[in-house]
Amino acid sequence: MIRSVVLGAGAALPARIMRNADFEGVVETSDEWIAQRTGIRERRIAGEGETTASLGEAAARAALANAGVDASSIDLIVLATSTPNNTFPATAVEIQQRLGISSGFAFDIQAVCTGFVYALTTADLYLRGGQAKRALVIGAETFSRILDWTDRTTCVLFGDGAGALVLEAQEGSERGVLSASLRSDGSHKHKLYVDGGPSTTGTVGMLRMEGREVFKHAVGMIADVVVDAFAKAGKTAADLDWFVPHQANKRIIDASAKKLEIDPAKIVVTVDHHGNTSAASVPLALAEAVADGRIKRGDLVMVEAMGGGFTWGAALLRW
Ligand code: ACO
Repeated sequence: MIRSVVLGAGAALPARIMRNADFEGVVETSDEWIAQRTGIRERRIAGEGETTASLGEAAARAALANAGVDASSIDLIVLATSTPNNTFPATAVEIQQRLGISSGFAFDIQAVCTGFVYALTTADLYLRGGQAKRALVIGAETFSRILDWTDRTTCVLFGDGAGALVLEAQEGSERGVLSASLRSDGSHKHKLYVDGGPSTTGTVGMLRMEGREVFKHAVGMIADVVVDAFAKAGKTAADLDWFVPHQANKRIIDASAKKLEIDPAKIVVTVDHHGNTSAASVPLALAEAVADGRIKRGDLVMVEAMGGGFTWGAALLRW
């Protein structure tokens, strides 16, 4: 049996840190409100010249270095993003070119905050199906560029960044992607969307969210796919070493873990210093926990996310 095994993880963040206090004077808010309601204390904001492609490239280079493999060995790049450099071509192809890769194939996946889980699952199918041997799976976003900086209900929540994994098809491995569960339901579109696009307004648009409505559905949807991914792999929360959730809100993370009976000591939390980086949040958290030695070879790791669409999904990996 072929499995998609993780060889390495990497991350990249813009240089500029924006702390909660920096919003005072931009919109009517406070450090206390943001920290209490979301757990966020600071986030990174892309500066001039920092784009989804440049951050994605930097995260990919860090993941390749962590894996100890050369870019020329990559024959598949799947980039999860809702903030591409251009409407087309795919930003994944631009990253492929930046990495000096001219063989194999690259494409973008758009599932908003669940994008990385969709991208991981997609790459896993290509690797297990024999269509590719070694893949880069990247989540990269510059959400600061689609925020309405006059809307306090959204602009305080998001940040920019990128994370990446290198995956390799290996025969007979105990490690790798063990199971996944993906869902979507377009009836929730109006609760979290961008109010522009090439085919409707001809503009990029800005993010709009009914935060309370998203919150209401998040915990149930997350629990649904995590339980399904555990069941498909014949595992339970008791077997888990690390729970790496999408980093939207500390309250959602804690409530999901509680419902799933996951030990709080096993949760990787980065929302306090990254904010919600959409498709980049899970690989950023994975890369951080690998770099600081928490996630080790052989650990059982559950990743999950929920976001615009709605989309939601989870994947279980033996690291
Ligand atoms: N500063 C101060 N006050 C604020 C702010 C702010 N930044 N934003 C909103 N408020 C006010 C509201 O106006 C409201 O005031 P009112 O009671 O006078 O009307 C009050 O705070 C409470 O607002 P709620 O929306 O009820 O606050 P809530 O506790 O629900 O927290 C939040 C809001 C943080 C957005 C929360 O609902 C949330 O995290 N939702 C989920 C978001 C999410 O998970 N998104 C994930 C997907 S992201 C993606 O896919 C791109």
